[in-house]
Amino acid sequence: MTSSKQRRHDLVRRLGIEPTIAARLKATIGPAVDAASARSPGDVTVLDAGCGRTSPLIGFRDRIDRFVGVDIHAPSTPLPYLDEFATVDLCAAGASFPDASFELVLSNFTLEHFADPEAALANLYRWIRPGGTLVITTVNRRHPFVNAYLSFPDGARRRVQPLIKETAADAHPLVGACNDPEAVAEALEAAGFEQIELETVGNLARAWGRHWPTFAVGLAGDLIAQGSPSRRSTILASAVKPPEPALAEPASAGPALAEPASAGPASAGPASAEPAAP
Ligand SMILES: C[S@@+](CC[C@H](N)C(=O)[O-])C[C@H]1O[C@@H](n2cnc3c(N)ncnc32)[C@H](O)[C@@H]1O
Repeated sequence: MTSSKQRRHDLVRRLGIEPTIAARLKATIGPAVDAASARSPGDVTVLDAGCGRTSPLIGFRDRIDRFVGVDIHAPSTPLPYLDEFATVDLCAAGASFPDASFELVLSNFTLEHFADPEAALANLYRWIRPGGTLVITTVNRRHPFVNAYLSFPDGARRRVQPLIKETAADAHPLVGACNDPEAVAEALEAAGFEQIELETVGNLARAWGRHWPTFAVGLAGDLIAQGSPSRRSTILASAVKPPEPALAEPASAGPALAEPASAGPASAGPASAEPAAP
């Protein structure tokens, strides 16, 4: 990090705009990797969905047995930390992976780009193993600056993007169809996920901090939303695909031709009473 960028980051920290999205992601992914290792020892298979050219999962690489990345664009050079890369449109129908392929799926700053977020979440749901975790981050339209940025006509946004993005390749078309906390929670629930947890952090000064003018706008944006969690710029969500219902206990070990059970507690088979996972 250059010294002026470092100074900007220090200022953000001194102003109390914390935690960072990086720290919260790490704290969210860590337990999900622990759970994956416990469920599938030796087969911790992880997907970075919309992997771009870097990944917060790199820090967990030594605990991942198979690390797959997909993106709608192939990276210009191979990503050395991946075991496998595939070019995939996450919003397209079709079977890019067999069902239940992955213990953990991360989709980091991607939802705002999806033309059809419901289709993408349906794909990710199918590809996650029962009991596995989805972690997503995206931008929050309830922040007025984010909303303005997403609402800019493409031409205007293209003029601003070079100030914010490191390279033109990092400036992806934006849609913003599922980009506030309620919409994200509802979309995850509609896809079938459970244990949905959502939080927001202020990330504009850091995300727009390559140059002083955009940094100053971002910092003002973070400060105005800091006391209002539902408006902070960035959403972090995690959710779990429901585990498969436990197999029903065999009927009570009575004689093979037992009399029909009376309508008492013994007849209330717990597993058969469970609705099927969506
Ligand atoms: C802001 S970048 C984030 C990249 C990476 N996840 C990261 O954290 O640096 C958004 C990424 O989503 C990808 N993307 C956008 N729409 C997509 C789609 N429909 N299917 C797959 N990838 C998509 C883009 O190509 C881009 O790499």
